[in-house]
Amino acid sequence: MDSGYKKITDINFGEYDATNYRDSSSRDLFNRIFYRDNRVDQILENNKYFVLGDKGTGKTAYSVYLSNNIVDDTYASIVYMGETEYGKFVRLKEQRDLILSDYTDVWRVILLLLMSDKIYKTEDRSIFNGKSFSKLKEAIDDFYYCAFKPEIKSAIEFVEQAKDSATMVFEHLRGEMGDSKEIKFSDTRFQSNLMFLEKQFISALEGIKVSKKHIIFIDGIDVRPDNINYNEYLECIKGLAQAVWVLNTSTFQSKKSLKKLKIMLLIRPDIFDQMGLHNMNNKLNDNCVLLEWRTTYQHYRTSGLFEVVDKLFRSQQDVPELRNAKVGEAWDHYFPFKVFNHKEHALSDSSFIRECETFSVNNVLEGLLW
Ligand SMILES: Nc1ncnc2c1ncn2[C@@H]1O[C@H](COP(=O)(O)OP(=O)(O)OP(=O)(O)O)[C@@H](O)[C@H]1O
Ligand SMILES: [Mg+2]
Repeated sequence: MDSGYKKITDINFGEYDATNYRDSSSRDLFNRIFYRDNRVDQILENNKYFVLGDKGTGKTAYSVYLSNNIVDDTYASIVYMGETEYGKFVRLKEQRDLILSDYTDVWRVILLLLMSDKIYKTEDRSIFNGKSFSKLKEAIDDFYYCAFKPEIKSAIEFVEQAKDSATMVFEHLRGEMGDSKEIKFSDTRFQSNLMFLEKQFISALEGIKVSKKHIIFIDGIDVRPDNINYNEYLECIKGLAQAVWVLNTSTFQSKKSLKKLKIMLLIRPDIFDQMGLHNMNNKLNDNCVLLEWRTTYQHYRTSGLFEVVDKLFRSQQDVPELRNAKVGEAWDHYFPFKVFNHKEHALSDSSFIRECETFSVNNVLEGLLW
């Protein structure tokens, strides 16, 4: 009798890396197969700034889900740290002779620029009317000839050319500044230029009242490009982690509406350990969302890992009753066999047990594909 289930060869096993679900073509599939557990809500909590998880545990997946959907009135987006960005950063460090503490200043301006751009693109224009934020936006448009791309590599240019960007910001905002004394920016005073820029971003943001929540996820920081040495890589992301911390816990706390903004890092636990943040244990408890899928033999059937995979099969069925079936039915349909249990010397283990040894979603899916 026809069970109504699709043939297994007609099931889409999804992407190995969740980055690919950002395309509009696979967005629908991802929304259907995504297993939404309470970690989505945890990520949205005000005091969570880091999404921690080993390779393949879903860091990108959760951020893609939140950037493809508006959950709890939150507008999320993702920016990537890749080879180009690291390269630009190292060049900037060399050109300006920067030390670690300067990195954080650089990052703060980059992140404030990205956040301001995102707010401008998603909020109702009326909140900017007559505010210094509009002038700052004009300065950014001038600097980028209206072609700013919301990417880290574009934002780094604003910092690289801090003398020019600060001059433009000053020109646009001088009418708003109480004393309209001329300020001359010099290329040799890089740090002061950065401080000036940061101050203008903060006061422009403080002057508006955002109505939505905004999150920027930073992804890709676990992958060190081959051409960047380990220390340089680590220093770069240490500066980033410090900047994320300061913005979230200080700058974005300065006003009620700014509490709706946050920047989140997607990071592997072993790299997070090396970020040199104070009171790591407290931060792990209070400010991190940990993605891990460990389960036990006894309880595997009610585990998240089982549900993820079951949902992958269930959600792709054409028959509504099968789509809404109880957790486990789809699995039992596709894998109705037992595997050998060495202790009991019998075929008594569930077919699932063989696949879930390493607790990564990818490993289970890979196991199935074999
Ligand atoms: N909650 C979930 N629902 C459905 N699929 C999920 C879920 N979490 C993770 N996955 C799937 O697991 C796979 C790996 O996830 P992802 O690419 O997000 O891992 P990652 O933690 O970002 O890994 P890396 O460190 O390599 O970047 C993806 O195919 C993703 O779709
Ligand atoms: Mg990822």
